[in-house]
Amino acid sequence: MPASLDPGLSRITLRHGDITSDASADAIVNAANRSLLGGGGVDGAIHRAAGPALLAECRLLGGCDTGDAKITGAGRLPVRHVIHTVGPVWRGGGDGEPELLASCYVRSVEVADAADCAVLAFPAVSCGVYGYPLDAAAVVSLEALAGALTVHGGVREARFWLFSDTAYAAFDRALTRLRATR
Ligand code: AR6
Repeated sequence: MPASLDPGLSRITLRHGDITSDASADAIVNAANRSLLGGGGVDGAIHRAAGPALLAECRLLGGCDTGDAKITGAGRLPVRHVIHTVGPVWRGGGDGEPELLASCYVRSVEVADAADCAVLAFPAVSCGVYGYPLDAAAVVSLEALAGALTVHGGVREARFWLFSDTAYAAFDRALTRLRATR
């Protein structure tokens, strides 16, 4: 992959597999729903791995708006925090989905930096049950994350954990293209 001069892009890496296996991040980002009370997909995997303490903390948060992010402890997960963000449901792209998806990454980095988290693990927010097309999500997510990392120097690294081969390939293509143009 070509090196990038963009200070934010150069701090983004891609990994293949289960985000809950990341024991060296400071915070894992969860693709939650507005209730913050758990669900399927990566949300289910994070709550299963973290145990009931995470749900108990989430109950105190009063939910979360789409595009926003809230932070908790991490229960039994081997990281300090879980950052819960709520991506948009894909409704064809004309309903503010790109701005809301970008906001998930910006808000997650803001919340992480405020809690002194230097290494973050992200899933592909909105790319599962919420149906955001992978190639489009990859570009929006990487650009928003790179911009947020440039502003928040305290966050040294952001890793995307991509669960499927197709998701990894989409993010790899988008990252390679963005790095070549910056
Ligand atoms: N590690 C990394 N990525 C994963 C994992 C995992 N263990 N499991 C799934 N993915 P989704 P969304 C990928 O559906 O689209 C929940 O029910 C998955 O393949 O988890 O934002 C919430 O409660 C996909 O690429 O999140 C909400 O109701 C990506 O993570 C709703 O789903 C996101 O898929 C949120 O939908």
